[in-house]
Amino acid sequence: MKIGICPGSFDPVTLGHLDIISRSRKVFDHVIVAVMINPAKKTLFTVEERIDLLKRATADMEHIEVVGFEGLLAEYAKARGASAVIKGLRAVTDFEYEFQQALTNKKLNPDLETLFMTTSSEHMFLSSSIVKQIAMFGGDISNFVPECILKDVKDRIRLDMKKRENDN
Ligand code: PNS
Repeated sequence: MKIGICPGSFDPVTLGHLDIISRSRKVFDHVIVAVMINPAKKTLFTVEERIDLLKRATADMEHIEVVGFEGLLAEYAKARGASAVIKGLRAVTDFEYEFQQALTNKKLNPDLETLFMTTSSEHMFLSSSIVKQIAMFGGDISNFVPECILKDVKDRIRLDMKKRENDN
């Protein structure tokens, strides 16, 4: 069985992520969506919440498993018997960062390949940061995140903004 891993922060999952996850299933029998835990990174949602949002967003997809993991991706891939990491490439600006990660992962686990999948043109500009920024200024994010998590994102942004106001 061919296993692929789609890693990321997914803070929150966007339609761009879902596009890459669902297309990865065309190439792999089983796809692990790994929510990587980086204690140094400040996120809008906790890892448990991000996993929950992803599970809901992928509920109708078969052979997709959502997990949280703290540690090295290369080691996790080995432990799970995954043959490749799949990353979405939006633009040439993504490339340098992704290339560095791919080479690092290859050094740490020579059996692990990295496959870059071109993002669909309608998601070319999309990122979790852009979604958060649009929501923060009251913009419509319904074309950018799955409908089933729309309310969660809007509510959390509102809460986060209130918290910031109180802190100032
Ligand atoms: O969505 P992101 O934040 O661009 O995803 C980056 C991620 C989580 C895939 C990357 O930071 C990662 O793989 N972190 C796990 C730690 C690790 O293995 N680091 C060495 C390779 S760079």
